[in-house]
Amino acid sequence: MFLKALHCQNERRPPVWMMRQAGRYLPEYRELREKHSLWTLFHEPELAAEITLQPLRRYPFDASIVFSDILVIGEALGLKVHYVDGQAPHFEPLVTDVKQLYICDVEERLSYVAQTIEFLIPQLKVPLIGFAGGPFTVACYMVGGQDKAKKWLYSDPISFHVLLKTITEATISYLKMQIRAGVSAIQIFDSWAGILPQNEFRSCCTHYLKKIRDSLAEVPVILFCRGSSLFVDELVSINPTCISFDWQKPLSELRTRVPKHISVQGNLDPLILFSTKDRVKHEVTKLVKSMKGDPGFILNLGHGILPHTPLENVQAVLESARSVSSMLV
Ligand code: CP3
Repeated sequence: MFLKALHCQNERRPPVWMMRQAGRYLPEYRELREKHSLWTLFHEPELAAEITLQPLRRYPFDASIVFSDILVIGEALGLKVHYVDGQAPHFEPLVTDVKQLYICDVEERLSYVAQTIEFLIPQLKVPLIGFAGGPFTVACYMVGGQDKAKKWLYSDPISFHVLLKTITEATISYLKMQIRAGVSAIQIFDSWAGILPQNEFRSCCTHYLKKIRDSLAEVPVILFCRGSSLFVDELVSINPTCISFDWQKPLSELRTRVPKHISVQGNLDPLILFSTKDRVKHEVTKLVKSMKGDPGFILNLGHGILPHTPLENVQAVLESARSVSSMLV
């Protein structure tokens, strides 16, 4: 159903999954986290596979997503990523000069992600999504923050674009490896793209996302960025299989600006899941009704599910999506 919806050919209820569905809101994840560092969880294929499966044991999600992180790509560029509890992850050293970067053997350095995927495929009943960060978002972390990235871009655009180009090349090899290992779709998280003015969005995001998209003709590609409703035409010009929208505008309204052959994903506010079960049901019903009959609609949040999200409200999303759809048929 998920793959059909990606290709705008779904005639049944909308498929449902949630960005960051494997993670801290789940008690079984937190239990594993007490025993192992985040670095270990990302690097041990059996543990990463176990965490990918955790949300699927609890909920009937229609897709799964590999448990990993967008920042592991740094390892393929000779950098170390530190995950420190209670802080944003950071690179060491920070990148201040593109000469610091060299593309190592991506497949060798990130082989543990391919192993996780190979380990998962025989155990899954739903499609597995692979992913990577958008080059601009990854660059923001590599240089030590969004402001530093923008300052570099504005003060020395030529070398900033060398940085983006290098990340793009490593990302393409990394995603091809995930596809060979068996994922059925790819999502690109360009979470920070929305902080750029339109011209810079075009040169720093659209350009490189299109390079990635065009290199991956063999699988569906979903594009996600924050502020997506501001950049609909830009995102459409990349010709992805699907665009994942955040919650600022009604999805049905955004839909009218996306050609029929491109599917749309989203777009509940993740914080809605902290309200009452009735409110959650109301919001899901409203969204599903507004997208009635759309063969290319995938129900998701507008950004990742948050820590401490009440478990019963995740259930409520799945249940109400099913019950509204059966009423609409
Ligand atoms: O279930 C899934 O979706 C798969 C796992 C996944 C993680 N990170 C695991 C993770 C995915 C898809 C990501 C993407 C990611 N990572 C993004 C893009 C999406 C987004 O939310 O904007 C970004 C910007 C990152 C970078 C990152 N990694 C941050 C900012 C943090 C710390 C704060 C946070 O959001 O969690 C991480 C650590 C991280 N990555 C955790 C998990 C489950 C936290 C784990 C923990 O503390 O136990």
